[in-house]
Amino acid sequence: MSQESSAKPAKPAKATADPAHPVAQPGSSDFIVVSNRLPVDRVPQEESDDGWRRSPGGLVTALAPVMATREGAWIGWHGAADETLAPFHHGNMDLFPVPLSADEVELYYEGFSNSTLWPLYHDVIATPEFHRTWWDTYQVVNKRFAEAAASAAAPNATVWVQDYQLQLVPQYLRALRPDLRIGFFNHIPFPSPEIFAQMPWRKAILEGLLGADLLGFQRPNDTANFLRSARRFLGAGVKARQVHVNDASGHFSHISRAEPFPISIDVAQIQQLAKNPDVIARAKQIREDLGNPTTVLLGVDRLDYTKGITHRLKAYGELLDDGTVQVEDAALIQVASPSRERVETYKQLREDVEGMVGRINGQHDTIQNTAIRYLHHSYPVEEMVALYLAADVMLVTALRDGMNLVAKEYVAARGDNSGALVLSEFTGAADQLKQALLINPHDIDGLKAAILRAVTLPKAESSRRMRSMRRQILAHDVQRWSEDFLSTLAQKAVRDDS
Ligand code: F6P
Repeated sequence: MSQESSAKPAKPAKATADPAHPVAQPGSSDFIVVSNRLPVDRVPQEESDDGWRRSPGGLVTALAPVMATREGAWIGWHGAADETLAPFHHGNMDLFPVPLSADEVELYYEGFSNSTLWPLYHDVIATPEFHRTWWDTYQVVNKRFAEAAASAAAPNATVWVQDYQLQLVPQYLRALRPDLRIGFFNHIPFPSPEIFAQMPWRKAILEGLLGADLLGFQRPNDTANFLRSARRFLGAGVKARQVHVNDASGHFSHISRAEPFPISIDVAQIQQLAKNPDVIARAKQIREDLGNPTTVLLGVDRLDYTKGITHRLKAYGELLDDGTVQVEDAALIQVASPSRERVETYKQLREDVEGMVGRINGQHDTIQNTAIRYLHHSYPVEEMVALYLAADVMLVTALRDGMNLVAKEYVAARGDNSGALVLSEFTGAADQLKQALLINPHDIDGLKAAILRAVTLPKAESSRRMRSMRRQILAHDVQRWSEDFLSTLAQKAVRDDS
């Protein structure tokens, strides 16, 4: 199978046709984000007015508002195979699409990124597969992203590489452009060395990451896991979260620093929408459409096996079976946005979830009431905030999650301090949202008890908990996250230069 891109020759994207905003010339961008996906995905014309749709996932949710306030360039794949697009302007960003052939989508994206790294880094909830052809393509594609960044960057520019799909980019980029300041942020967990040990190419991955001047992780534990792996598998000298990195001939090259930077959300945007009369009216409408039940419960996830959707459905189904929750009084809305649909584990999960929803609804629905409204769609942020406002109880039951921004968005939307959050202790968000009703999703009885508690929580207690969680989230938005990361990266460079 070919590992070179079989992409077609460059054609301009529709969004280029804005003469007022010419795209930055190669070699002139001072601030660059590099991620697997661009913030917008190319979709067939019939699916959107302009042929573009917002990309899925937490990474774009977090970085789009950061980039909106900084003029910068964003390098990433535009979500369609075998298509080469010219750079174009979007918002106030220059977008540089990186082409991927259909083979590369299969081997680099669906294969190594999402069937090897994703399950391995999420504590092997699913079994990771290790294939040499996938690894070969991962290297080829990571080189292409590094070359794109090297060509876009101005002298001494800052380049911020994102997430597990691009772990080799820092090293490749440093080799091409030693003048750059290189940051890397890992949005998902970093596993313990005992699990990371399974990776056949563990040394190469650690060396790839250590090309960065600053490595950011979600939790202190992820940072510690990475540093322990660097020590154990590379024999690297590690002191006070700083790794001494040597070049291929064993001479000192640079210091790479690893720190936790828990990511957050665009608090102002969510708060603004939560006060918008149209959004408030839509929330009311949602409750009416459900028959105005006493309690609306909500789950919002990418349809991913790490999110614990089946555990949540099992617990909720048993509460209905026990008669503790009645279909006339409560409705659960489960938004499960489509994700990685060609990967086998995701196809299986969809069958499992839809089978469970069908069984529970078949058993408990009445002509008037439906136990679970299952929505296999993605929604714009306005509709998401309306759902947050409509929900008395938010259920986040992930088995493992780097952060979970949905939990933070729910809290940001609840301006009147009402509402209860049931939150898995295996999410990064649990570090910050300590006043949530924390659960272990594997403990179904414990989960049932927490759901019941959330449904019946006295107003004074839910309000006290929500107020405390809101204090945390309002003081730590995504702008602060990016400023913390980028100022640490800038300080780091100053110290090394001195
Ligand atoms: O943060 C996890 C992440 O994999 C992001 O890198 C990505 O943007 C998002 O989830 C959605 O995944 P995908 O790009 O595979 O649809």
